[in-house]
Amino acid sequence: MSHSTTGKTLNLKLRVWRQKDNASRGEFRDYALVGISTEMSFLEMLDILNEQLLQQGEEPVNFDHDCREGICGTCSLMINGQAHGPDNGTTTCQLHMRRFHDGQMITIEPWRAKAFPVIRDLVVDRSAFDRIIQAGGYVSVRTGQAPEANSVPISKNDQESALDAAVCIGCGACVASCKNASAMLFVAAKVSHLAQLPQGAPERAARVLGMVGQMDSEEFGNCTNTSECEAACPAGVSVTHIARLNREYAKALYGSPLGLKGELLTSSGTGGD
Ligand code: SF4
Ligand code: FES
Repeated sequence: MSHSTTGKTLNLKLRVWRQKDNASRGEFRDYALVGISTEMSFLEMLDILNEQLLQQGEEPVNFDHDCREGICGTCSLMINGQAHGPDNGTTTCQLHMRRFHDGQMITIEPWRAKAFPVIRDLVVDRSAFDRIIQAGGYVSVRTGQAPEANSVPISKNDQESALDAAVCIGCGACVASCKNASAMLFVAAKVSHLAQLPQGAPERAARVLGMVGQMDSEEFGNCTNTSECEAACPAGVSVTHIARLNREYAKALYGSPLGLKGELLTSSGTGGD
């Protein structure tokens, strides 16, 4: 059966990770798909696979998705060994089948990291990220009238750098692509975003200590500065934010109002940009 509307079509072989739950052993299973339009998105291709499996009385493949617009960060697949597939700066949901060729074998796996246990098939539990954000605490907001925007001066460089960090969509590709399963790029994006804005200043020290402490307790690996995270990040978050995270952490540690003592982040080397 052809699913094509216009354009070229592909016949594909899929090798998909199937796993009933976290306690079960998983395995790859092979499926054949015919007549896939090159204009389809990768997730639409998986929808077609699932229709086919349902028609055959088989369990559909579980995979995460929500916005399908590159915003929410839920679609997280390892495609032929690359987080989010072969295109730079592109989430799985934005990837199109024209990037593949007729007859190609496509291997599809979940994120693999101790801190992201598999729930079923291609779906992993990324609630460790939620707990890290929670550990960052709140941003104080003064009640009363909204201040006039120009009365809170923020330099252009700071604005742009804060926004470059704020684009993180929490997908976890940085963890999945890192040989150590380190979450440093994600945590750096969150810390760096607020540390550069006056709104984030009052809780700055507590935020970085809380988030790094939670990151360590979630058993993410250490950073060894290979920058694979930056290469895999669909939002283009730069590793320079990791250097800022190190500086924020060092400042908070030695001048901490909480009086916390400890070591400098071993997970990111010496840092500093
Ligand atoms: S830093 Fe990039 S790869 Fe990591 S969670 Fe954020 S958007 Fe995803
Ligand atoms: S489904 Fe939301 S980013 Fe892909």
